[in-house]
Amino acid sequence: MPIKAALFDLDGVIVDTAKYHYLAWQRLAKELGFVFTEKDNERLKGVSRMRSLEILLEVGGLTGKFSEQEMNDMAARKNDWYVAYISKMDESEILPGTVECLKGFRALGVKTALGSASKNAMLILNNLKLTPYFDAIIDGTKTSKAKPDPEVFLLGAKAVAIEPENCVVFEDAQAGIEAAKSAGMKAVAVGKPEDLKGYDRIIKGLFEVTPQEIINL
Ligand code: BG6
Ligand code: MG
Repeated sequence: MPIKAALFDLDGVIVDTAKYHYLAWQRLAKELGFVFTEKDNERLKGVSRMRSLEILLEVGGLTGKFSEQEMNDMAARKNDWYVAYISKMDESEILPGTVECLKGFRALGVKTALGSASKNAMLILNNLKLTPYFDAIIDGTKTSKAKPDPEVFLLGAKAVAIEPENCVVFEDAQAGIEAAKSAGMKAVAVGKPEDLKGYDRIIKGLFEVTPQEIINL
């Protein structure tokens, strides 16, 4: 099936925001009195904000110790710190190959869409000046189900009016690869083979592929 739409995850594919998420979660963990390591942070990739908080509390042995209100307040505080970091981002933080890839797909007549769990996606895309490269943007403000649910990618396909079987997804998180596959799409994993499974192709970064080789995946 020829590819007619390319859907991109944001965090970890287009930009390395994991380090900023980590700094903010680490600060919250410190306030709560425990250490949150970079290895622990790996578990938060592709995971929603509230689920990330649950995992963080689990690491600190604090599961079930807070009310819903307290959980919401903690997530909001973490987000304020995270937003302070990402507000300073600019084009220099776009990961290598991103712009060439987006332009290349469009040059072949392939639609481009963002499919991210983040509610901060617009702020990041605007700071990186990448918004005009997308025909559709589906982010955490438009979805109700987190990856591995296929919702985010199905909404992306619908927004560009392309059938799922003609879509390819670029994803760095296992939950995202599973979301793409259960949406009936091709999945290009961005990362290391030892961390990911179930993909159609794996690459280290968008710099490693040309749209031409992906459209016949
Ligand atoms: C995903 C990240 O893209 O977005 C997760 O990989 C993050 O780590 C999630 O928790 C939600 O992001 P935000 O910006 O809405 O807190
Ligand atoms: Mg990601």
